[in-house]
Amino acid sequence: MSPRYERPVIVRHALGGADKFGAANAVRPMRDFEGVSIAELVAAHGSPLFLFSERLLRQRVRELRSQLSRRFDDFVVAWSYKTNYLGAICEVMHQEGSWAEVVSGMELEKALGAGVPGARILFNGPAKSAGDLEVAFRTGVHVHVDHLDELEFAERVAERLGLRPQVGLRVHIGDLPVQQWDRFGFTLDNGSADQAVRRLLRRGVLELTALHCHIGTFVLDPAAYRHEARALARFLRRLEREHGVRIDSLDLGGGFASHNTLHQQYLPGEELTPSLGQYVEQLADGLDEGLEGAPPPRIVLETGRAMVDDAAILVATVLANKRLADGRRGVVLDAGVNILPTAWWYRHDVFPAQEPRGLAEPTVFFGPLCMNIDVVREALMFAPLEAGERVVIGHVGAYNVTQWMQFITLRPNVVLVSERGEHAVIRRAETVATLLQQEEVPPWLRR
Ligand SMILES: Cc1ncc(COP(=O)(O)O)c(C=O)c1O
Repeated sequence: MSPRYERPVIVRHALGGADKFGAANAVRPMRDFEGVSIAELVAAHGSPLFLFSERLLRQRVRELRSQLSRRFDDFVVAWSYKTNYLGAICEVMHQEGSWAEVVSGMELEKALGAGVPGARILFNGPAKSAGDLEVAFRTGVHVHVDHLDELEFAERVAERLGLRPQVGLRVHIGDLPVQQWDRFGFTLDNGSADQAVRRLLRRGVLELTALHCHIGTFVLDPAAYRHEARALARFLRRLEREHGVRIDSLDLGGGFASHNTLHQQYLPGEELTPSLGQYVEQLADGLDEGLEGAPPPRIVLETGRAMVDDAAILVATVLANKRLADGRRGVVLDAGVNILPTAWWYRHDVFPAQEPRGLAEPTVFFGPLCMNIDVVREALMFAPLEAGERVVIGHVGAYNVTQWMQFITLRPNVVLVSERGEHAVIRRAETVATLLQQEEVPPWLRR
């Protein structure tokens, strides 16, 4: 190949050199994944390509279980299906002892279809239909009621079936040191949660045995879990005292951060994200405070992104280089925000998949969409890349292969790489035939 000439431009370097810790922020190449060369994986499965490490998935769940076992005798880790409900990923999670946490009829059907017993499924979310509730009650799924209308629907379904199912109530706790979700559950502070309990007990159709709360996601302050656990435990104690209700399980939801870096975050996730042990310590201390010596109920966690995010990478191929109007180097990749929606939240790590050559300069990575919003990573110091070379995008395991959309391009293969370096497609790439299979042209338009 003849050397390429590019007209020189003068660009003010906004990045580069050493950071405040004295570390040069040069980008290291990543040539293989779980011992298998990325070139081999792309040759076998194409580009772009999602790669999941089975070893890292198992390691992370085991770490969470081991941390919980230090403080609790009776605990459950439930796999949050929405985070990644590919069958192979769920199977790894279930093999590691995780229950399923689902938030829709579709996810419930998926979990039951995969052979998860109803007694090991938690059903959350604000939109359970009467049909979903019927399936759940018949199969012994643990339903967490989100609002008063749902309480009434659930009572009607239970009465119709002649069952008295055990249910939980989702609770919203105020004043947490975290930007928390506020549209779910019965508010504790304004008495709505108490009102819901009184109503549920008065009717006597359902049996209240669990309390649930999910404070938000990517919670970087472990102390938030201390507040949450203390408030839930205090509520449990009060229900025991005031109504003689026996709550046997406290579900503290998900929300632990992965090692990604939020756009607004100053320090990188690798340095800022608390360890699983730090989260567990805080929530266990909060429970001790709230229970005041009473025996702890079963503790449930529905940790999603912190289990799977760091276990996956996305390999992308450089389609083209360009100079933007402001002089910055732009690189067009074959992977965009349609398959990596988390790029809107995170400054994803990007590594070259081959030895970098030449001087690093601020580079912006775009996807292939004909849309200005298709920015995979703004401003990263990067050596020049040739068309056809590859980059690796890190920490992509959570929410991408569930929230991605089929837009302008087709969704690519997703591959699981085993501890022994075996690799297999766990979700096939779409083709135009996949799209056409879903479409109909009405008779009056047919030629
Ligand atoms: C009820 C519930 N539980 C668990 C999770 C998983 O959260 P995360 O991925 O932040 O751990 C979610 C995510 O939205 C949720 O809504």
